[in-house]
Amino acid sequence: MTPYQSGIIAEPSSDACFVTLNVKRSRMTEFKQSLAMIPDLVSQIQAQFPKAELHAAIGFSKLIWSELDNKQPQELDLFPALKGPEIEITPTDVDLVLHIRAMRHDASFQLTQSLFALFGDSVELVEEVQCFLYKDSRDLTGFVDGTENPQGEQRKAVALVGDEDADYRHGSYFNLMRFSHNLTKWQKEDLKTQEDTYGRTKEDNEEYPSADKSPNAHTKRTSLKDEDGKSIEILRQSMPYGNLNDQGLMFASYGKSASHFNLMLKSMILGDEQGHTDHLMRYTTAKTAQAFFMPPTTWFHKFQS
Ligand code: HEM
Repeated sequence: MTPYQSGIIAEPSSDACFVTLNVKRSRMTEFKQSLAMIPDLVSQIQAQFPKAELHAAIGFSKLIWSELDNKQPQELDLFPALKGPEIEITPTDVDLVLHIRAMRHDASFQLTQSLFALFGDSVELVEEVQCFLYKDSRDLTGFVDGTENPQGEQRKAVALVGDEDADYRHGSYFNLMRFSHNLTKWQKEDLKTQEDTYGRTKEDNEEYPSADKSPNAHTKRTSLKDEDGKSIEILRQSMPYGNLNDQGLMFASYGKSASHFNLMLKSMILGDEQGHTDHLMRYTTAKTAQAFFMPPTTWFHKFQS
């Protein structure tokens, strides 16, 4: 078992399920007992599907954290409310999130069912969203998503808390947003407008030369540097979802610091000093916006009686 929850770092999968839950405060004792059993349950189901690359990550928001632990991850906070010219983000924080992923739908289905059953009557389901791999890892707007993600060992360096918060080493700050796309509006745009919106080409997924990128391009607004000129990074694990009524992206990202995601989001929504915001936000609506902390695997052991 890794010291970090394996779903944080895992390579892209073909299937994912995001479940958000609230905990009934009258059932806290029962809920805490189930937390102690999570690492073993995940290992058991993984063993049933040895080739499925089944992974889980389970996280908690600031709304419930103090009821579970007498210390707190240094940067744990609720999702920020933001209102910009293109889009308004209204936080929809909940207590708990399950991020389940695999290369087989039956494997992620089995683990999701088992975890939900483990919590029994101590939780209330808020939302369950099934996600799928679309073509060669494309968002439903038709552009490849995840290309500039950190690779190899760099994934851990970007996503996992280190010695700066020793009590929560190997944990990760997690943000989840359900973006519901206006695909009718998007599909009416010509190819050049779509490509300019991302700052990348569509078919070949090539990055525009820096000089050709609009300050309103999504990749321009999210490519940030710190005071020392070092790239500010997150590890994205987003996947499309959809049915005949609603289609979009479950944006999901992990970071060793909560501030990296927050800075990017502000750059997209509020824009820079000249008022350049992210024009991708003209084609989508944030239906949910939640912040969590995914604790290290050892954290669950403290609930063992
Ligand atoms: C890049 C899609 C929201 C952060 C990209 C790319 C696509 C994409 C297609 C280009 C390829 C790549 O992954 O490198 C979307 C869609 C979104 C969305 C459809 C929602 C409607 C967000 C949000 C954030 C974010 C909310 C963070 C707050 C990034 C970052 C990059 C990126 C950091 C890489 C930029 C670079 O270094 O070039 N996104 N994204 N995205 N996105 Fe998003």
